[in-house]
Amino acid sequence: MNIRFSLLLLCALLCLHTSLSAQLQWREVMPGVWKGTAGTPEKITLLNIAAARPDSAALGKLPSSTFPLDPDDISMKLADGKVYLRFPLERNEQLFGLGLNFKTVNQRGRVSQLHMDHYGGKDDGRTHAPVPLYISSRGYGVLVDAARYITVYAGTAVRTDTKNPPNGNKQWESQPYSDAVEMLVPAAGAEVYIFAGPTAMHAVQRYNLFNGGGYLPPKWGLGFTQRVPTLYSQQDIIREAKEFEAHNFPLDFIGVEPGWHSMSYPCTFEWDPNRFPDPQGFINNLAAMGVKANLWINPYVSPKSSLYAPLKPLSGSHTVWNGLVADFTLPKAKALFREHFLKNHIALGVSGYKMDENDGYDKWLWPDVATFPSGTSAEQMRQVYGIAMQQMTDEWFREQNQRTYGLVRASNAGASRFPYVIYNDYYSHPDFITALVNSSFIGVLWTPEVRASKSAEEWVRRMQSVCFSPMAMLNAWADGTKPWSFPEVETAVQEVAMLRMQLLPYIYSTFAQYRFEGKPPFRSMNLIDGFAFTPQLSGGKLDATLNPYEAKTRSELKDQYMMGDNMIVAPFFAGDSSRKVYLPAGKWYDFYTGELAGEDGVITVKARLDRIPLFVRDGGLIPMIPPRRQAPKPGEVLPLEVRVYGSAPGNFPLYDDDGNTFDFERGQYSRVLLKAANGKGSMEKPAAGKPFGYAPKIKWTFMTAQAK
Ligand code: GAL
Repeated sequence: MNIRFSLLLLCALLCLHTSLSAQLQWREVMPGVWKGTAGTPEKITLLNIAAARPDSAALGKLPSSTFPLDPDDISMKLADGKVYLRFPLERNEQLFGLGLNFKTVNQRGRVSQLHMDHYGGKDDGRTHAPVPLYISSRGYGVLVDAARYITVYAGTAVRTDTKNPPNGNKQWESQPYSDAVEMLVPAAGAEVYIFAGPTAMHAVQRYNLFNGGGYLPPKWGLGFTQRVPTLYSQQDIIREAKEFEAHNFPLDFIGVEPGWHSMSYPCTFEWDPNRFPDPQGFINNLAAMGVKANLWINPYVSPKSSLYAPLKPLSGSHTVWNGLVADFTLPKAKALFREHFLKNHIALGVSGYKMDENDGYDKWLWPDVATFPSGTSAEQMRQVYGIAMQQMTDEWFREQNQRTYGLVRASNAGASRFPYVIYNDYYSHPDFITALVNSSFIGVLWTPEVRASKSAEEWVRRMQSVCFSPMAMLNAWADGTKPWSFPEVETAVQEVAMLRMQLLPYIYSTFAQYRFEGKPPFRSMNLIDGFAFTPQLSGGKLDATLNPYEAKTRSELKDQYMMGDNMIVAPFFAGDSSRKVYLPAGKWYDFYTGELAGEDGVITVKARLDRIPLFVRDGGLIPMIPPRRQAPKPGEVLPLEVRVYGSAPGNFPLYDDDGNTFDFERGQYSRVLLKAANGKGSMEKPAAGKPFGYAPKIKWTFMTAQAK
């Protein structure tokens, strides 16, 4: 070996062992979306599995923007087989997102390791949607597209060479100011995306549109759904649907919980011949009542299933409850599922699935030492299993030109365009609302599902908020509850469920906005124009037992949200007699009475058991239909009432289509502008030949008495 060659070799070895620092090179891949590549990214990434396809036309309609950060302030280093990332952070910047959190909205000052799991009661990164995306109050977003357990130091770490040291420190602080978000990605490379603003909402819109736009559910998906107790037979379920008719309670789809399979833990995916002797008859009987069926599954394949033998070579090294864990990164494994599900369920008229147990828990799931035939590691599989299932099942329904709407317990980046709502077994009502607030930053939908309650008051409060969420659902799998389980509040519960049905034109148009503009239907106040929540610090008194580190508490706005552009929802929880509501700029009106509720500030509202507080902006239009038990069916034409609030002129783009198929993606929809000014309302004429389910004569209700 000559000397020069030895030196070169030594040099190469040294380079491998020491770290490599570099600046990320940013390329604008879509309007307002930049991509930087660190090291050698892996084949399995979150967005690859989600098969995200950007909606470039919609992205092009957002305000143009320049790269939102100083590229010199972003650094990247490859060392120890990992990617080290550092992004700048200003003093008053708030950070949102970083997974589906249940207790906190602002993630600044927190450390989390984003790890797919069933939520365990702590905001530490282990959650149902550990999306590695943060949205800054300064109006930009950062996504790290790697299917790994990423550690995020969201403004906690302080470097010796920082340009912005914590202010000279007059006093000891347990958490001094940090000027960076730092991340550790345990992989040889990662793709990083930056989404421009100018506002936080624009960054969220770009993220959702980059993933194809939000999902537009079928109309029936926005009606009420009841999930029946486990082991219910087909007769039990038909009886249950009839009870809903007798109680005049809304019902669009029924969730069939464990019991329809011949074995559920793990699943056979085959109908049980005793409880479901005639699946086709069962689906037809429900359909005759206008009700659809959604089937519960977990992904693990029972040795008793006909799928077991063909899937065995296409599955992981470890089982879950003795069932196979199919390798969904293999097209062959997906094809076997597709064939079976299409033939045995979807061809009969099954409308969708609840995909359970794909998130955690560690001691049940495949371990990180498991291997998969595709070579995908167990860690990657853990991070992507939920999105792989969403992508696969979504495709089956698109193939049928039929929209579905279902449930999933595991999600991740790239899920905006998938037809699934997240739920879990945790049950704090306030934390469920915080999750709803947080879902809006990370492109997922969440339902604060109702199961049981300790009192009639808690029952009505939970029912009220679930009716103002992406899926109005009672999950009675274990408790056998019915909406009328607390007779003393039956009327109040029925009223709020009917109110949701009345609001369907508003809610459906709001979801259309999610699809076409990427605006989340249920939104954190932090995404609203004309609103800035400034967190206040309090406490921090030394107490050797309760607060030994003099930690301060930071205020959060986590118990109110917006449904669409015009309406604030401020739920009450059991025990509350009053609550504060923060109002964005301008005048806001009580939805029920039309009276002025307040202007630019904080108001206090008194609790009323039969009402969930709702406020509408000045000039806000709310299109409604008469109360009804089921969402409009294709071809139905309904009378429309438009409620108008305040005195400012306003308009509302009313969206409609056939409510069921994907024909809207090929232009088969109507969007007409409803306009109101000076006590007069008008509606544009819908284009001829496009689906539009409202009668031309509209009832305009001016809710706010005008001062003479
Ligand atoms: C749980 C799920 C519940 C219910 C139950 C049935 O894992 O979160 O909603 O479906 O399984 O066994």
